[in-house]
Amino acid sequence: MTQNKTQVNLKNRIIVALDTADFTQAKSLVKTLKRDVPIFKIGSELFTACGPRAIQMVRESGREVFLDLKFHDIPNTVHRSVRAAIQYEVAMLTIHVSGGLRMMQEACVAAADEAQKKNLELPKLIGVTLLTSLSEEDVKNEIGLSKPIQETVLRYAGLAQRAGLDGIVASAFEIKRIREHYGPDFLIVTPGVRPEGASRDDQERVLTPKEAFDLGASYIVMGRPITQATSPADAMARVIQSLT
Ligand code: C5P
Repeated sequence: MTQNKTQVNLKNRIIVALDTADFTQAKSLVKTLKRDVPIFKIGSELFTACGPRAIQMVRESGREVFLDLKFHDIPNTVHRSVRAAIQYEVAMLTIHVSGGLRMMQEACVAAADEAQKKNLELPKLIGVTLLTSLSEEDVKNEIGLSKPIQETVLRYAGLAQRAGLDGIVASAFEIKRIREHYGPDFLIVTPGVRPEGASRDDQERVLTPKEAFDLGASYIVMGRPITQATSPADAMARVIQSLT
């Protein structure tokens, strides 16, 4: 299948989540998809099961790593964790905005200092706002936040920008307002994206890849619609085709 300019440009902004505990499966997904996927996301499942060799495997395939460990701890611990992550030369890493301003600032200081010391590229620091699996009811009744999701996410985005983070993770429904408030350079990474007709799984706030990009997402993250497809390569090709 040939790809036009828009498709090529947008496909460089698709991140595939390697959500598996099985190293062989992760490796085979990278091998199958690397032609079309520039960045693979390694989250807590793969990292806990396989450790840094998962990062090494993606880096050796010539692709970038989004290390999604969602750090959330006291500022000193997050500082030290971010420092430890720099050595893996990842392109992006995540921390929870709800950890507060001081925690995020420590993450920025640690990343800048360690990258400079080791003469390595500074990864993009991305703040996790509200998980895209949470519904309005969950947020109100379980977590006890009285404000609507959109308002909380907007507030979190502002806090992340104030702390010096490069961007945030937010669902497609929040993109427009975040863009309006925090400008064109603030990165918006959008998971919970589902191609037309795909299962929503446990994601509550979902839109299609094209809708997410049209709204202004910098990157989209897709896991199960690609990785659990009968043919991940075909599923990915269909996503790219839908991006015109
Ligand atoms: O399989 P699926 O496409 O739902 O995977 C989405 C990925 O994005 C998962 O790896 C999940 O951890 C991550 N994520 C998310 N919502 C957030 C932050 C990260 O779904 N707010």
